[in-house]
Amino acid sequence: MGFPIVRHRRLRQSTGIRNMVRETHLTVDDFIQPIYVTYGENVKSEIKSMPGVFRFSLDRLREEVKEIAELGIPAVLLFGIPETKDSVGSSGFAEDGIVQEATRLIKSWYPELLVIADTCLCEFTDHGHCGVVHTTEIDGHICGDVLNDESLELLVKTAVSQAKAGADIIAPSNMMDGFVQAIRAGLDENGFNHIPIMSYSVKYASAFYGPFREAADSTPQFGDRKSYQMDPANAREALREAETDVLEGADMLMVKPSLSYLDIMRTIKDQFDLPLVAYNVSGEYAMVKAAAIQGWIDEKKVAMEILLSMKRAGADMIITYYAKDASRWLAEK
Ligand code: PBG
Repeated sequence: MGFPIVRHRRLRQSTGIRNMVRETHLTVDDFIQPIYVTYGENVKSEIKSMPGVFRFSLDRLREEVKEIAELGIPAVLLFGIPETKDSVGSSGFAEDGIVQEATRLIKSWYPELLVIADTCLCEFTDHGHCGVVHTTEIDGHICGDVLNDESLELLVKTAVSQAKAGADIIAPSNMMDGFVQAIRAGLDENGFNHIPIMSYSVKYASAFYGPFREAADSTPQFGDRKSYQMDPANAREALREAETDVLEGADMLMVKPSLSYLDIMRTIKDQFDLPLVAYNVSGEYAMVKAAAIQGWIDEKKVAMEILLSMKRAGADMIITYYAKDASRWLAEK
């Protein structure tokens, strides 16, 4: 045989034919834009490690939300930086908490825009952990244990207060065992059986959350999150986590972070038929931004290739700090 019989290049020879055989497409409907809200007046402060991402005070929030809504992005994910923190994170479930206030405002301005509330305590606790901590001092070092069932109660309170404020979707991210079941029961008892739960089912103890912790000022004051978030080395454990959430009544599953976990994304997609969310986290954004600012990569092409890879790996939607840019880039075409 002196020539190739199978020629893959036949289907690559023109834009038209490439468009026709393309297997994966990104659309604006795929994106969820995270927003950080904070106290104060006239605040729009850039997060150092995330150029282009800002913390907004409530009086500056509208300009950001307007831009997102006008681009046609269907949903935002809210994170709050409270005025005061305490050991149980009470500002996370206060009726006038920062996330609750922001939710009410956004829903009054843009009723169609979906508000997803990240349900966790780490932004609101003074120790920076995602639940109630029992501390002991050993040889002058503070050691702490995050108490599972005690934390669930606070998490349920947080979810219910977010739903009361008008959140369309509750997204618990604290990785306590039984959190979906507890939140489902809490929501149902309070008349919110129509509110879906987007569970951070498969959430790894990742160094890629670094810039987020700067943004939300939520770095643990002692220890780390390895006793509740997953070990990056484990894939089969991800199946157990996802299965538990399905049994407990989750409506959507998430894999987080995304880029280093595309294998996990594909596995979860093949094993479960719930909608799957990819979280393109802060550190993934920061890496692309940093290289782009240096002029070492083409930001638009690299960012879009990364988002496409998440879709190809099975994501039905993507939480990404690139949501606004990506929507603009898609509209350019
Ligand atoms: C709260 C939470 C975190 C992120 C989302 N929700 C931080 C963490 O678990 O430490 C990270 C998001 C990002 O990096 O963009 N638990």
